[in-house]
Amino acid sequence: MGIRKFRVWRGDAAGGELKHYEVEVNEGEVVLDIVHRLQATQEPDLACRWNCKAGKCGSCSVEINGKPRLSCMTRMSTFEEDETVTVTPIRTFPIIRDLVTDVAFNYTKARETPAFAPPEGVAPGDYRMQQIDVERSQEFRKCIECFLCQNVCHVIRDHEENKPAFSGPRFFIRAAELDMHPLDAREDRKAYAQEDMGLGYCNITKCCTEVCPEHIKITDNAIIPMKERVVDRKYDPLVWLGRKIFRR
Ligand code: SF4
Ligand code: F3S
Ligand code: FES
Repeated sequence: MGIRKFRVWRGDAAGGELKHYEVEVNEGEVVLDIVHRLQATQEPDLACRWNCKAGKCGSCSVEINGKPRLSCMTRMSTFEEDETVTVTPIRTFPIIRDLVTDVAFNYTKARETPAFAPPEGVAPGDYRMQQIDVERSQEFRKCIECFLCQNVCHVIRDHEENKPAFSGPRFFIRAAELDMHPLDAREDRKAYAQEDMGLGYCNITKCCTEVCPEHIKITDNAIIPMKERVVDRKYDPLVWLGRKIFRR
């Protein structure tokens, strides 16, 4: 495919700039190959994060021509021959160096999300559930924690001040997964998502769903059902009465 033009953001928390490069590109290569070639031939100290090169570890998230993508899954053949390909770090999280950002926000939110709560008196190994219940939440288990959905959500991308109160789409699917789990003993997952995870900040723009490399239907299958059920529980007097009577 020959020599192609690239721009890569170089810098650290104090500031940086886009640097121009001309790099060899071969048939079948992906953007991560080019970043590695840059390291090998021109910029040995260029920082990037990656691990599997197979779209499964979620480490290589960057923005390519402004779009959040996995660099190991973005083929060079998707760009025009004369196009300059611009690679920048994901924007929503603090820069460490070059293409590497500090995604600790997501681990904080993971720790804040209440864990699976098994029913009392049932030992691990004795849990039983129907195949249909396994299938309902299986989609959410495909998450590779690339945090592209977190990166693209405008609630925190454009509003740093929302971060303490907003867990983000990756953790809304975790809450939905546990909410659908027939053996999870916590009954307040929907209310918790609304009140403590900031579900109410989400105005269903669906940008998270659009960027998910695992094609998880984050908005339709997790966020909207969680929102609907929160509304049911909060405002429907019959649901309220039912909960009082049946103690659900
Ligand atoms: Fe990545 Fe999709 Fe998981 Fe979000 S839900 S972290 S986009 S795999
Ligand atoms: Fe954000 Fe996704 Fe909602 S992008 S606003 S969490 S639908
Ligand atoms: Fe693992 Fe890209 S290197 S997802």
